[in-house]
Amino acid sequence: MKIAIGSDHVGLILKEPIREWFYELGYELIDVGTSEFERTDYPIYGRKVAQLVADKKVDFGIIFCGTGVGISLAANKIKGIRTVVCSEPYSAKLSKEHNNTNILSLGSRVVGLELAKMIISEWINATFEGGRHQKRIDMY
Ligand code: RB5
Repeated sequence: MKIAIGSDHVGLILKEPIREWFYELGYELIDVGTSEFERTDYPIYGRKVAQLVADKKVDFGIIFCGTGVGISLAANKIKGIRTVVCSEPYSAKLSKEHNNTNILSLGSRVVGLELAKMIISEWINATFEGGRHQKRIDMY
């Protein structure tokens, strides 16, 4: 399993412990930054992760900013990318099963670390169901 992660300076608060958790789980990671708390701009990192996913250099991506909103909007501009912002596990799971999301976005000002892990686990372990859901995806 190869995962790309990225965040702005606000999302870094959550990206750091999640990165360590992924290493413990044995996932192969590409961390596109940021790695410092100096103010920066979330589109840079959203686009970097999205490009890695779109180019199939990684299996999927996880991105972080304050709300998860800005960085997800930036990532969604890349062709082939379907990013979802989630602050609870149910939508995360269904976003993979029904919408085949390939990037998950989390807000460091919205969810705590343990909830973030739960959301990520549900999302990673879910499988796209295809069928009628693929037909709908093909419509946009
Ligand atoms: C940065 O202050 C903040 O705007 C950013 O992290 C994010 O929440 C944007 O959507």
